[in-house]
Amino acid sequence: MANKYKILFVCLGNICRSPAAEGVMRALVEKRGVADRFEIDSAGTYSGHAGDLPDLRMRAAASRRGYNLTHRARQISEEDFERFDRIIVMDDYNYESVHRLAPSRALSMKIDRMTDFCRSHPDAHYVPDPYYEGREGFEIVLDLLEDACEGLLDDCLK
Ligand code: 4NP
Repeated sequence: MANKYKILFVCLGNICRSPAAEGVMRALVEKRGVADRFEIDSAGTYSGHAGDLPDLRMRAAASRRGYNLTHRARQISEEDFERFDRIIVMDDYNYESVHRLAPSRALSMKIDRMTDFCRSHPDAHYVPDPYYEGREGFEIVLDLLEDACEGLLDDCLK
């Protein structure tokens, strides 16, 4: 069996956006019948929530759409640049942090912005941090992630 395609989603805390992206992508590869070809994970640039489940509000919003988020938060490390084929960040701040951590220029080429894969939200340039937002903020995150995951999966399967 060929090597699996490995995708790492990254945000700041790894308790809202990136574990949700992981959950949406896991469901999508299942739905498309290609789950055995992918390894999907997430991480944060900040270590303060390491070991935590996703934020309760994110889990509730995801659950209403059928996604069960069980990831435990962890901080991204230099080894992740070797292990993963794609590193997908949620906003410019994550992009800068992850870029700074990249062990080499070649490995930094693995970094992409999540919204670059959106097709139904052409004006979106980042996935907004919902942590200090109300319920609607979490719905916007999921809308963007569902759109971007479709585009990203098509890109991976090209
Ligand atoms: P995330 O959201 O980056 O989407 O997981 C955040 C979670 C926690 C914090 C910031 C953003 N925080 O500052 O603790």
